[in-house]
Amino acid sequence: MNDNKMVIITGSGIGIGRSTAKVFGDAGWHVVVTDILEKEGQEIRDEIISNGGSAEFHLLDVTSSAEVTNVVQSVEESHGQPFSAAVANAGIAHKVPFDEMTDEKWAHTLDVDLTGEFRLIRAVAPGMKKAKTGSIVCVSSVMGTTYGWHDHIQYNAAKSGVVGLVRGLACDLGSHGIRVNGLAPGFIRTAQALSTVHSLGPEGLEKAAEYIPLGRVGEPDEMADVIVFMCSAGARYLTGQTIIVDGGVTVGRY
Ligand SMILES: NC(=O)c1ccc[n+]([C@@H]2O[C@H](COP(=O)([O-])OP(=O)(O)OC[C@H]3O[C@@H](n4cnc5c(N)ncnc54)[C@H](O)[C@@H]3O)[C@@H](O)[C@H]2O)c1
Repeated sequence: MNDNKMVIITGSGIGIGRSTAKVFGDAGWHVVVTDILEKEGQEIRDEIISNGGSAEFHLLDVTSSAEVTNVVQSVEESHGQPFSAAVANAGIAHKVPFDEMTDEKWAHTLDVDLTGEFRLIRAVAPGMKKAKTGSIVCVSSVMGTTYGWHDHIQYNAAKSGVVGLVRGLACDLGSHGIRVNGLAPGFIRTAQALSTVHSLGPEGLEKAAEYIPLGRVGEPDEMADVIVFMCSAGARYLTGQTIIVDGGVTVGRY
Protein backbone atom coordinates (compact mmCIF):
# COMPACT_ATOMS: atom_id res chain seq x y z
CA MET A 1 0.00 0.00 0.00
CA ASN A 2 1.10 3.54 -0.75
CA ASP A 3 -1.28 5.10 1.73
CA ASN A 4 1.42 7.26 3.32
CA LYS A 5 2.73 8.58 0.01
CA MET A 6 1.89 12.03 -1.35
CA VAL A 7 1.97 13.20 -4.95
CA ILE A 8 1.50 16.70 -6.35
CA ILE A 9 0.30 17.15 -9.94
CA THR A 10 0.17 20.48 -11.77
CA GLY A 11 -2.64 21.17 -14.25
CA SER A 12 -4.69 18.27 -12.88
CA GLY A 13 -8.19 19.75 -13.16
CA ILE A 14 -8.68 18.32 -16.68
CA GLY A 15 -6.99 16.12 -19.27
CA ILE A 16 -3.91 14.00 -18.66
CA GLY A 17 -3.34 15.58 -15.24
CA ARG A 18 -6.88 14.78 -14.12
CA SER A 19 -6.59 11.13 -15.17
CA THR A 20 -3.23 10.93 -13.43
CA ALA A 21 -4.75 12.27 -10.21
CA LYS A 22 -7.48 9.64 -10.43
CA VAL A 23 -5.08 6.73 -11.00
CA PHE A 24 -2.83 7.83 -8.12
CA GLY A 25 -5.96 8.17 -5.95
CA ASP A 26 -7.14 4.67 -6.86
CA ALA A 27 -3.65 3.36 -6.00
CA GLY A 28 -3.95 4.71 -2.45
CA TRP A 29 -1.76 7.83 -2.70
CA HIS A 30 -2.70 11.15 -1.11
CA VAL A 31 -3.21 13.31 -4.19
CA VAL A 32 -2.55 17.05 -4.21
CA VAL A 33 -4.53 18.30 -7.19
CA THR A 34 -3.41 21.74 -8.41
CA ASP A 35 -4.57 23.92 -11.30
CA ILE A 36 -5.60 27.41 -12.34
CA LEU A 37 -9.05 25.83 -12.96
CA GLU A 38 -10.70 25.93 -9.53
CA LYS A 39 -14.03 24.24 -10.27
CA GLU A 40 -12.48 21.37 -12.23
CA GLY A 41 -9.76 20.88 -9.61
CA GLN A 42 -12.30 20.70 -6.80
CA GLU A 43 -14.39 18.23 -8.81
CA ILE A 44 -11.57 15.72 -9.25
CA ARG A 45 -10.59 16.12 -5.59
CA ASP A 46 -14.19 15.28 -4.63
CA GLU A 47 -14.30 12.37 -7.08
CA ILE A 48 -11.15 10.82 -5.60
CA ILE A 49 -12.53 11.19 -2.08
CA SER A 50 -15.93 9.75 -3.01
CA ASN A 51 -14.11 6.75 -4.52
CA GLY A 52 -12.53 6.12 -1.10
CA GLY A 53 -9.25 7.92 -1.81
CA SER A 54 -7.51 10.88 -0.24
CA ALA A 55 -7.01 14.25 -1.97
CA GLU A 56 -6.89 18.00 -1.60
CA PHE A 57 -7.01 20.85 -4.10
CA HIS A 58 -4.94 24.03 -4.31
CA LEU A 59 -5.15 26.82 -6.86
CA LEU A 60 -1.69 26.99 -8.39
CA ASP A 61 -0.39 28.91 -11.38
CA VAL A 62 2.96 27.42 -12.43
CA THR A 63 4.17 30.80 -13.72
CA SER A 64 4.46 32.00 -10.11
CA SER A 65 7.52 30.77 -8.21
CA ALA A 66 6.00 32.07 -4.97
CA GLU A 67 2.72 30.17 -5.46
CA VAL A 68 4.48 26.92 -6.35
CA THR A 69 6.81 27.12 -3.37
CA ASN A 70 4.04 28.16 -0.97
CA VAL A 71 1.72 25.32 -1.96
CA VAL A 72 4.48 22.70 -1.75
CA GLN A 73 5.76 23.95 1.61
CA SER A 74 2.34 24.40 3.21
CA VAL A 75 1.19 20.90 2.19
CA GLU A 76 4.44 19.33 3.41
CA GLU A 77 4.10 21.17 6.72
CA SER A 78 0.46 20.29 7.24
CA HIS A 79 1.13 16.58 6.55
CA GLY A 80 4.53 16.51 8.28
CA GLN A 81 6.11 14.69 5.35
CA PRO A 82 7.72 15.43 1.96
CA PHE A 83 6.24 14.53 -1.39
CA SER A 84 7.12 11.06 -2.63
CA ALA A 85 6.31 12.05 -6.21
CA ALA A 86 5.67 15.11 -8.33
CA VAL A 87 4.18 15.30 -11.82
CA ALA A 88 5.00 18.47 -13.78
CA ASN A 89 2.13 18.28 -16.24
CA ALA A 90 0.62 21.76 -16.72
CA GLY A 91 1.06 22.95 -20.27
CA ILE A 92 -0.26 25.09 -23.11
CA ALA A 93 0.14 24.72 -26.87
CA HIS A 94 -0.84 28.02 -28.46
CA LYS A 95 -0.84 28.35 -32.22
CA VAL A 96 1.41 31.26 -33.21
CA PRO A 97 2.45 31.60 -36.87
CA PHE A 98 6.20 32.22 -37.12
CA ASP A 99 5.74 35.71 -38.61
CA GLU A 100 3.55 36.72 -35.66
CA MET A 101 5.90 35.48 -32.95
CA THR A 102 6.70 38.14 -30.37
CA ASP A 103 9.03 38.02 -27.38
CA GLU A 104 5.95 37.93 -25.14
CA LYS A 105 4.27 34.97 -26.91
CA TRP A 106 7.55 33.06 -26.99
CA ALA A 107 8.28 33.74 -23.33
CA HIS A 108 4.75 32.86 -22.16
CA THR A 109 4.88 29.31 -23.51
CA LEU A 110 8.41 28.78 -22.21
CA ASP A 111 7.30 30.14 -18.82
CA VAL A 112 4.41 27.67 -18.48
CA ASP A 113 5.76 24.60 -20.30
CA LEU A 114 9.42 24.60 -19.28
CA THR A 115 10.15 26.99 -16.42
CA GLY A 116 6.82 26.00 -14.81
CA GLU A 117 8.03 22.39 -14.63
CA PHE A 118 11.38 23.48 -13.19
CA ARG A 119 9.60 25.56 -10.51
CA LEU A 120 7.72 22.51 -9.21
CA ILE A 121 10.86 20.38 -9.10
CA ARG A 122 12.86 23.08 -7.32
CA ALA A 123 10.15 23.23 -4.67
CA VAL A 124 9.80 19.47 -4.02
CA ALA A 125 13.49 18.56 -4.24
CA PRO A 126 14.57 19.67 -0.72
CA GLY A 127 12.00 17.42 0.97
CA MET A 128 12.83 14.49 -1.30
CA LYS A 129 16.56 14.99 -0.64
CA LYS A 130 16.00 14.83 3.12
CA ALA A 131 13.93 11.67 2.65
CA LYS A 132 16.60 10.32 0.24
CA THR A 133 13.86 9.16 -2.10
CA GLY A 134 11.43 10.57 -4.64
CA SER A 135 10.18 10.29 -8.17
CA ILE A 136 9.55 13.15 -10.58
CA VAL A 137 7.79 12.95 -13.93
CA CYS A 138 7.94 15.82 -16.43
CA VAL A 139 5.45 15.86 -19.29
CA SER A 140 7.10 16.56 -22.64
CA SER A 141 5.60 15.64 -26.04
CA VAL A 142 6.46 13.91 -29.30
CA MET A 143 6.74 17.56 -30.41
CA GLY A 144 9.71 17.73 -28.03
CA THR A 145 11.33 14.40 -28.83
CA THR A 146 10.66 13.81 -32.50
CA TYR A 147 8.48 16.11 -34.58
CA GLY A 148 8.45 19.73 -35.63
CA TRP A 149 5.01 21.37 -35.47
CA HIS A 150 4.28 24.27 -37.80
CA ASP A 151 2.97 27.40 -36.06
CA HIS A 152 4.14 26.02 -32.70
CA ILE A 153 7.91 26.57 -32.61
CA GLN A 154 7.78 27.89 -29.05
CA TYR A 155 6.02 24.66 -27.99
CA ASN A 156 8.63 22.56 -29.86
CA ALA A 157 11.38 24.46 -28.05
CA ALA A 158 9.77 24.21 -24.62
CA LYS A 159 8.97 20.49 -24.90
CA SER A 160 12.49 19.73 -26.21
CA GLY A 161 13.76 21.71 -23.23
CA VAL A 162 11.83 19.36 -20.93
CA VAL A 163 13.83 16.42 -22.32
CA GLY A 164 17.05 18.23 -21.39
CA LEU A 165 15.65 19.19 -18.00
CA VAL A 166 14.94 15.52 -17.29
CA ARG A 167 18.48 14.48 -18.26
CA GLY A 168 20.20 17.16 -16.21
CA LEU A 169 18.02 16.70 -13.14
CA ALA A 170 18.52 12.94 -13.21
CA CYS A 171 22.26 13.62 -12.83
CA ASP A 172 21.85 16.25 -10.12
CA LEU A 173 19.32 14.34 -8.06
CA GLY A 174 20.23 10.68 -8.63
CA SER A 175 22.73 10.53 -5.79
CA HIS A 176 19.92 11.66 -3.46
CA GLY A 177 17.77 8.70 -4.42
CA ILE A 178 15.51 10.83 -6.59
CA ARG A 179 14.53 9.60 -10.05
CA VAL A 180 13.51 12.03 -12.79
CA ASN A 181 11.81 10.87 -15.98
CA GLY A 182 9.78 12.34 -18.80
CA LEU A 183 6.63 11.27 -20.61
CA ALA A 184 6.22 12.24 -24.25
CA PRO A 185 2.59 11.72 -25.25
CA GLY A 186 1.59 11.37 -28.89
CA PHE A 187 -1.91 12.47 -29.94
CA ILE A 188 -4.15 12.32 -26.87
CA ARG A 189 -7.86 13.15 -26.68
CA THR A 190 -7.87 16.17 -24.34
CA ALA A 191 -8.99 19.80 -24.53
CA GLN A 192 -5.52 20.73 -25.81
CA ALA A 193 -5.64 18.43 -28.86
CA LEU A 194 -9.38 18.96 -29.41
CA SER A 195 -8.91 22.72 -29.83
CA THR A 196 -9.55 23.68 -33.44
CA VAL A 197 -7.93 27.07 -32.82
CA HIS A 198 -4.64 25.87 -31.35
CA SER A 199 -4.33 22.21 -32.35
CA LEU A 200 -5.80 19.44 -34.52
CA GLY A 201 -9.43 19.59 -33.42
CA PRO A 202 -11.77 16.55 -33.48
CA GLU A 203 -11.50 16.00 -37.25
CA GLY A 204 -7.74 16.42 -37.28
CA LEU A 205 -7.44 13.90 -34.47
CA GLU A 206 -9.47 11.33 -36.39
CA LYS A 207 -7.25 11.91 -39.43
CA ALA A 208 -4.13 11.51 -37.29
CA ALA A 209 -5.45 8.13 -36.20
CA GLU A 210 -4.93 6.88 -39.76
CA TYR A 211 -1.17 7.27 -39.28
CA ILE A 212 -1.02 5.69 -35.83
CA PRO A 213 -0.04 2.01 -35.87
CA LEU A 214 -2.49 1.23 -33.07
CA GLY A 215 -5.17 2.86 -35.23
CA ARG A 216 -6.52 5.40 -32.76
CA VAL A 217 -5.54 8.45 -30.75
CA GLY A 218 -4.62 7.94 -27.11
CA GLU A 219 -6.80 8.53 -24.05
CA PRO A 220 -5.64 10.46 -20.95
CA ASP A 221 -5.76 7.37 -18.70
CA GLU A 222 -3.26 5.68 -21.03
CA MET A 223 -0.77 8.43 -20.13
CA ALA A 224 -1.73 8.30 -16.45
CA ASP A 225 -0.97 4.59 -16.13
CA VAL A 226 2.57 5.10 -17.47
CA ILE A 227 3.17 8.11 -15.21
CA VAL A 228 2.08 6.14 -12.15
CA PHE A 229 4.30 3.23 -13.23
CA MET A 230 7.27 5.62 -13.48
CA CYS A 231 6.63 6.59 -9.85
CA SER A 232 6.35 2.97 -8.69
CA ALA A 233 8.94 0.52 -7.35
CA GLY A 234 8.72 -1.30 -10.68
CA ALA A 235 10.59 1.65 -12.22
CA ARG A 236 13.24 1.85 -9.45
CA TYR A 237 16.21 1.75 -11.89
CA LEU A 238 14.65 4.11 -14.45
CA THR A 239 15.92 7.68 -14.51
CA GLY A 240 16.83 10.38 -17.00
CA GLN A 241 14.59 8.91 -19.72
CA THR A 242 11.75 10.48 -21.65
CA ILE A 243 9.43 7.68 -22.68
CA ILE A 244 7.36 8.16 -25.81
CA VAL A 245 3.81 6.84 -25.40
CA ASP A 246 2.17 7.43 -28.75
CA GLY A 247 0.48 4.30 -30.12
CA GLY A 248 3.52 3.97 -32.38
CA VAL A 249 3.03 7.16 -34.40
CA THR A 250 6.69 8.18 -34.27
CA VAL A 251 7.87 4.83 -35.59
CA GLY A 252 4.99 4.24 -37.98
CA ARG A 253 4.69 7.47 -39.92
CA TYR A 254 6.70 7.37 -43.13
N1 LIG B 1 -3.11 16.12 -25.58
C1 LIG B 1 -2.05 15.84 -26.28
O1 LIG B 1 -2.16 15.34 -27.41
C2 LIG B 1 -0.67 16.10 -25.72
C3 LIG B 1 0.41 15.63 -26.45
C4 LIG B 1 1.70 15.84 -25.96
C5 LIG B 1 1.89 16.50 -24.77
N2 LIG B 1 0.81 16.95 -24.06
C6 LIG B 1 1.09 17.62 -22.79
O2 LIG B 1 0.38 17.02 -21.75
C7 LIG B 1 0.19 17.95 -20.69
C8 LIG B 1 -1.27 17.95 -20.29
O3 LIG B 1 -2.02 18.47 -21.37
P1 LIG B 1 -3.48 17.95 -21.77
O4 LIG B 1 -3.39 17.34 -23.10
O5 LIG B 1 -4.07 17.19 -20.65
O6 LIG B 1 -4.19 19.36 -21.99
P2 LIG B 1 -5.35 20.10 -21.20
O7 LIG B 1 -5.48 21.41 -21.88
O8 LIG B 1 -6.51 19.21 -21.07
O9 LIG B 1 -4.71 20.30 -19.74
C9 LIG B 1 -3.71 21.24 -19.46
C10 LIG B 1 -3.80 21.61 -18.00
O10 LIG B 1 -2.77 22.57 -17.70
C11 LIG B 1 -3.37 23.61 -16.94
N3 LIG B 1 -2.61 24.85 -17.04
C12 LIG B 1 -2.43 25.66 -18.12
N4 LIG B 1 -1.71 26.74 -17.78
C13 LIG B 1 -1.43 26.61 -16.46
C14 LIG B 1 -0.71 27.41 -15.53
N5 LIG B 1 -0.15 28.57 -15.87
N6 LIG B 1 -0.61 26.96 -14.25
C15 LIG B 1 -1.18 25.78 -13.87
N7 LIG B 1 -1.88 25.02 -14.70
C16 LIG B 1 -2.00 25.41 -15.99
C17 LIG B 1 -4.77 23.74 -17.53
O11 LIG B 1 -5.62 24.49 -16.69
C18 LIG B 1 -5.15 22.28 -17.67
O12 LIG B 1 -5.63 21.75 -16.48
C19 LIG B 1 0.67 19.30 -21.23
O13 LIG B 1 1.98 19.56 -20.76
C20 LIG B 1 0.66 19.08 -22.72
O14 LIG B 1 1.53 19.94 -23.41
C21 LIG B 1 -0.46 16.77 -24.51
